[in-house]
Amino acid sequence: MTSHKPSGVQALQWTGKTLKVLDQRQLPDTFIYDEYDTAAGVAEAIATMRVRGAPAIGIAAAYGVVLSVIHHYETGSEHWQQQVLADIEMLANSRPTAVNLFWALDRMKPVLAEAHENPSVAALSYAEKIHADDIAANHKMGKFGADILANAKGILTHCNTGALATGGYGTALGVIRSVYARNPVLIYAGETRPWLQGQRLTVWELAQDKIPVTLIADSAAAWLMKSGAIDWVVVGADRIALNGDVANKIGTYSLAVLAKQHGVKMMVVAPTSTIDANMKSGDEIEIEQRQQSELLPACYKDNAYVSAWNPVFDVTPAELISAIVTERGVALNLAETGIGELFTL
Ligand code: MRU
Repeated sequence: MTSHKPSGVQALQWTGKTLKVLDQRQLPDTFIYDEYDTAAGVAEAIATMRVRGAPAIGIAAAYGVVLSVIHHYETGSEHWQQQVLADIEMLANSRPTAVNLFWALDRMKPVLAEAHENPSVAALSYAEKIHADDIAANHKMGKFGADILANAKGILTHCNTGALATGGYGTALGVIRSVYARNPVLIYAGETRPWLQGQRLTVWELAQDKIPVTLIADSAAAWLMKSGAIDWVVVGADRIALNGDVANKIGTYSLAVLAKQHGVKMMVVAPTSTIDANMKSGDEIEIEQRQQSELLPACYKDNAYVSAWNPVFDVTPAELISAIVTERGVALNLAETGIGELFTL
């Protein structure tokens, strides 16, 4: 793959001995990196959503394994491999839905199994490859997606799928960046309740790049489609099953249903690291439920009569998706072929 320098803001920075994580919970008001020197710290940064977005979570976890190897091997522990495996298990428990987390941890395991003179260096080189490959994949997907959207006049996106959510450039937002560079299409971003990634992160990223964007309340999507302003919904994914069902940020399924009603097409953009070869259909995907406190105002904290249901992902059936764009190519006709032989892993 051609190598690409990280473009735009960097969610993750490896310093040589530590991982710096941009605290996305504080954007766009405060731009601050937290620095981690342990795998436990990185697992906490993932669980608390300082770092978020499926590919970025996978990359962070890979660097978490590097920190674990540095800690256990370089301090001379006899049982360093078992200790690193325990840290890998801890990192795997940080969030359940985005498969990129487990994919990246699996890619890091050879460091333990193969004989390396210097496992810390080997681990770092695996992690840096995962990071660099993700950026390169995003640029490829940007081109594939932009070719399909050449004549689009309006695009709605959901959640954040930009540089912050990935190694750099972005998945769905990478496609939107590429489209806009060719043709100044209208871009709409849903605010993405309950966490507001669209309002806090997507709008901020596009504004940094001087790309005009219009924010809408999630509940305005049907009316936007009815107005005829958009012809495509373009989103990312956290896990894709072999039949083409897609788990993505809560609200994606609603958009797909609305899109069908209004004759709007739906594109999903994700690297092949988001495809789960063990999942035949989306019914098997575990959907993360987060704390009620992320949704409920503090005044209801101890109120016995008020509770919140807070699933943060949903599954969109393949039949509602017009195209899945990956760095290996584009899958169409999902209802008939799933993601097809192109993605045999
Ligand atoms: O819960 P988050 O913020 O980690 O959500 C994941 C996502 O960023 C989205 O679902 C996104 O659309 C896919 S990952 C680029």
